[in-house]
Amino acid sequence: MLVDSHCHLDMLCAQQQLDIADVIAEAKEQAVEHMLCVSVSLERFAPMMELIEPWPQVSASVGVHPDGRDVEEPGVERLVALAQSGRIVAIGETGLDYFRSEGDLEWQRERFRCHIRAARQVGKPLIVHTRAAREDTLAILREEQAGEVGGVMHCFTEDWDTARAAMDLGFHISFSGIVTFKNAVDLKDVARKVPAERMLVETDSPYLAPVPRRGKPNRPAWVRHVAEYLAELRGEPLERLADYTTRNFHRLFSPAAR
Ligand code: NI
Repeated sequence: MLVDSHCHLDMLCAQQQLDIADVIAEAKEQAVEHMLCVSVSLERFAPMMELIEPWPQVSASVGVHPDGRDVEEPGVERLVALAQSGRIVAIGETGLDYFRSEGDLEWQRERFRCHIRAARQVGKPLIVHTRAAREDTLAILREEQAGEVGGVMHCFTEDWDTARAAMDLGFHISFSGIVTFKNAVDLKDVARKVPAERMLVETDSPYLAPVPRRGKPNRPAWVRHVAEYLAELRGEPLERLADYTTRNFHRLFSPAAR
């Protein structure tokens, strides 16, 4: 059994005009039996929750992506209120993205701090996105004592030092289809070294489809390609990698297990 630890089912279904029932059935055929549907804005949150409501194999997060500039700004109280539902297992995705945004990015750092404060208040882990901002991301995680709740560095593309610093803070490292790309040489090295008990796998569907589906709209079923690739890279059977990444997921995101 596999888990897709990060996908955007609402965007996939809307963009590709797919029925969520078919997406989930297709995933199950590949032994992908659980997925975490990740929130990117408050505007999209209610429709996302409505979409996944009938599907217990889908859990969800609440948060506002660091890229969204002209969106409803989440306050700590609002996030805390929305995170009360049992379906919400994490806060995010949040973090810093200096690649896609320009100018004074204090608003982004403030938004990130706000998510960390909310996560600590509700005792739920964080889903962190970081791009071209590794120092500030780690500094804010430390300053805001994010280690108290831990979480995951999603779609990891940074170097080994960053991975180690994040793991020291109690974070997991999640690999997406990017690790299967030919030019991701350094990332493959990191993926060989991350200890089994800290690894997760994800699609970030509908983005970042892994080889051999690169360029297509990604779907949760294809987390299997990511897992197969990583198992081969690490020289271990797929079943073993599937087993520990699934256990890690449930340990991190199930309230009962924490
Ligand atoms: Ni995402």
